[in-house]
Amino acid sequence: MLNMIRQHLKGYGRQAATGPVFMALEVVCEMIMPLLMAAIVDNAIPRGDTTYIFLMGAAMTALALLSMFCGIMGAKLGIGASQGFGANLRLALFEKIQTFSFADIDKFSSASLITRTTNDVNNMTMMLTMGLRIMVRAPVMLLVALVIAVALNSTLALVLVVIIPLMVVIIAGIMKVGIRLFGQVQKRVDAVNEVLQENLVAIRVVKAFVRQDFEKKKFQRSNDELTDAFLKVGVRIVSLMPIMTVCMNAATAAVLFFGGRMVMGGRFDLGSLQAFIGYIAQILMSVMMVSMSLLQLSRAQASARRIQEVLDAQPDIQDPAAPAALPAARGEVEFRDVSFKYSASHTGDDVLSHIDLHIPAGQFTAIIGGTGVGKSSLVNLIPRFYDATGGAVLLDGVDVRDYPTRELRERIGMVLQNNVLFSATIRENLLWGKADATEEELVQAAKDAQAYSFIMSLPQGFDTPLDQGGVNLSGGQKQRLCIARAMLKKPAVLILDDSTSAVDSATEAAIRESFYKNLKDTTVIIIAQRISSVRYADEIIILEDDHIAGRGTHEELLAGNAIYQEIYQSQQEGVGE
Ligand SMILES: Nc1ncnc2c1ncn2[C@@H]1O[C@H](COP(=O)(O)OP(=O)(O)OP(=O)(O)O)[C@@H](O)[C@H]1O
Ligand SMILES: [Mg+2]
Repeated sequence: MLNMIRQHLKGYGRQAATGPVFMALEVVCEMIMPLLMAAIVDNAIPRGDTTYIFLMGAAMTALALLSMFCGIMGAKLGIGASQGFGANLRLALFEKIQTFSFADIDKFSSASLITRTTNDVNNMTMMLTMGLRIMVRAPVMLLVALVIAVALNSTLALVLVVIIPLMVVIIAGIMKVGIRLFGQVQKRVDAVNEVLQENLVAIRVVKAFVRQDFEKKKFQRSNDELTDAFLKVGVRIVSLMPIMTVCMNAATAAVLFFGGRMVMGGRFDLGSLQAFIGYIAQILMSVMMVSMSLLQLSRAQASARRIQEVLDAQPDIQDPAAPAALPAARGEVEFRDVSFKYSASHTGDDVLSHIDLHIPAGQFTAIIGGTGVGKSSLVNLIPRFYDATGGAVLLDGVDVRDYPTRELRERIGMVLQNNVLFSATIRENLLWGKADATEEELVQAAKDAQAYSFIMSLPQGFDTPLDQGGVNLSGGQKQRLCIARAMLKKPAVLILDDSTSAVDSATEAAIRESFYKNLKDTTVIIIAQRISSVRYADEIIILEDDHIAGRGTHEELLAGNAIYQEIYQSQQEGVGE
């Protein structure tokens, strides 16, 4: 954890170093105060020396002001340093997450990544803000008070020899449990965030299926579990307070008993006894404060471990050390004996097994098959969203793993099955495809995707802002914008994963028409459920379970493939009704 703090304090080192100096000065000022007070009680009051009282009073005021100044400076520098550290750490996490592959994100879950970047980082900055202050104050306080107490009366100070070890033992016991429990707390924060995130993303589905009550119960469960975890830690921590108070009172009573007898015997001054009691309280207080901040530290430690896990993760899709010499982009795709499953450690069946497939450059290919047979999985291997677990995927004759990822994905336009738009204008969304596209290119892509007329019918046209994820558009409009965005990129391979499902047949035919006209050299791969979407393809591939169960043109398959005939029949019936 120290390493992490040092690394991410960059730029805030001076504040982190000078803050504690001011904090220490503040404590020293506070500690001298009771001594001056004792001097007044013991020296001035018995003699009725008002000048002495006035001078000492002035000194005390000056000391108080100095202590205040140091206090403010220390707190300001401390907060500056810890918040700066937090900002650095969040940025480092964010940058790391950007390098993650789909599989890495599956592994951590996006909810957990959010918790780690926000809540866990917060725990660490809080520990730094509070902890730093206490970690400086308490030891200084302890040391100064001990020295003064021993100097005032070394015999009385023996009380501390009994009480301090006792407190340390109690605190250590409570801490041991605390560290374990805080780890649990963070895990449950994850769980709550996961339910929350899932619910928010799918809020429309939840409402459509009237599942609010179910979701509420689910949330309640993880919320209760989190509360339980917090309670468990909380009960331990609050029990610390009363136990410590008992110790403190016992110590004060012992000092009063022995010290009182000394005062009565004339061996100790009353003012000094008063000051001594004050110092005893401060010593015990600081022991307690250290223990509290150690608890905070244990929470931060749990968070630090979770943050480090993300920072240390090796993204499982990395650029090749020595990229191959890249051929010009033509758009030829080849699967050589490809097998795939989502998690290498997963023992289940392969999602795809031993797929051999060659798609010549410029061909219009369609993939059809039941749901869950692996169509999306198959095309996700081309831009390396996942890596094949067996065999190789080649683009233009070169293994996709030998491309720098950026270059590979430049060559591929992909409209994902559940694609998203961003909170920006339509124009900005389309320009994701090609940042420096001209107005003509923009209009052309919109026209090709049959999106132009509806964009123009919007009051602000291309400058219409889209709300989060494009909620202010219909499903079919969103799909057409996503297609336009991918087409603007003019990729060598254009992949549409079920991207015209919400578009009516006439519009779909028009989109296909523009593919033929304007994307002659582009390899187009579409995944679709409807025969009408695939029948004009140069080649149709039927995927079943985990393998290719047939390929050919519409006519060939209709004549000789039972599965295709069945799909065709079932959709004809639908039309006939
Ligand atoms: N991220 C993932 N992690 C683990 N398993 C997954 C993941 N995505 C899909 N699967 C599993 O892989 C199999 C193939 O899924 P895939 O999404 O490729 O099907 P599909 O043919 O595209 O289906 P659909 O027509 O419904 O889109 C399914 O059994 C699914 O449960
Ligand atoms: Mg799919």
